[in-house]
Amino acid sequence: MDASTQKPVVLSGIQPSGHLTIGNYIGALKHWVRLQDSHQCLFVLVDLHAITVRQDPQDLRKRCYDFLALYLACGIDPGKSTVFVQSHVPAHAGLAWVLNCFTYMGELSRMTQFKDKARKHQANINVGLFAYPALMAADILLYQADLVPVGADQRQHLEIARDLALRFNGIYGQVFNVPEAYIPPVGARVMSLQDPASKMSKSDDNAANYLALLDPPEVARNKIKRAVTDCGAEIAYDPDQRPGISNLVSIYGALSGQDFSAIQAAYAGRGYAPFKADLAEMVAEFLKPIQQEYGKVRRDRAYMHSVLKAGASEAARRSGRTMDKVYRKLGFIEREA
Ligand code: TYM
Repeated sequence: MDASTQKPVVLSGIQPSGHLTIGNYIGALKHWVRLQDSHQCLFVLVDLHAITVRQDPQDLRKRCYDFLALYLACGIDPGKSTVFVQSHVPAHAGLAWVLNCFTYMGELSRMTQFKDKARKHQANINVGLFAYPALMAADILLYQADLVPVGADQRQHLEIARDLALRFNGIYGQVFNVPEAYIPPVGARVMSLQDPASKMSKSDDNAANYLALLDPPEVARNKIKRAVTDCGAEIAYDPDQRPGISNLVSIYGALSGQDFSAIQAAYAGRGYAPFKADLAEMVAEFLKPIQQEYGKVRRDRAYMHSVLKAGASEAARRSGRTMDKVYRKLGFIEREA
């Protein structure tokens, strides 16, 4: 709970890697926007996490601006929420180090994201990649977050964050709030358009697999029309037996707010073509205003910097309180103000 607003605290973040996709929107960003009135929200662009795989510096900087502009274009309001870049607030790296000293090699070895990324980047299985969940736990615990809205792929990381909070509190007394994950009931795992057995990933080498928020509407329409569907012709939601069409139904449901049975009923007996055509149109219409707003924000570097400056100073203030407490509990000598 935030003392000044009496609202529960939300924290979430996205890695500036690849292209922000409709999966990130449906699984996370959409809920961030919704939670802004009822919660005290902090949204962070996690650039420290991004360097766990090798990045081109110029691309990374550009992508950070792109992602920030997209956060704002999707409806994150810096008047309500704190928006900042992780590397602007040194406490993230500071607490991550502390938490590293309370995290077991065994628990990190079980992380599926580490196993996946280690497979993909065999020439660079670095310590940062392995310790990534401790940094993510630091992001969350620094702000005493109550709720962390994420897609289903982050569930394991959230569990480690909770375990670390409980472990630290168990040794030193109440220091961290123990956060809850918010994983949406619909769209928590949007699948690849060409390979519906895998998650839609913003870093996929094949652009046909994802719908990027910055795909021109015509490109997005075509990606939907070409998306893999299963044999059969009925519109159905049955992810085990019919993963392709079920994925499209869940995107349709998330964007329209309709439940699966209403969608099924509306397209009963009509086959895939009209359903895909309508979804393609819906996606194009959804992207247009976001892209328009993105264009405005992305050109206004001064505005983006003012948002980040205010965000970093608020985040530093809040995280500083937690860090002081952590260091005191650990037995470090207090720094004179
Ligand atoms: P990242 O950058 O991979 O993804 C950002 C958010 O989007 C969700 N997401 C999806 N949701 C539904 N379907 C998909 N196909 C899909 N792909 C991604 C993710 O679950 C996430 O919510 N480790 C995090 C970033 C992070 C973080 C944090 C999150 C760092 N610190 C603290 C919350 C709190 C990550 O790599 O997300």
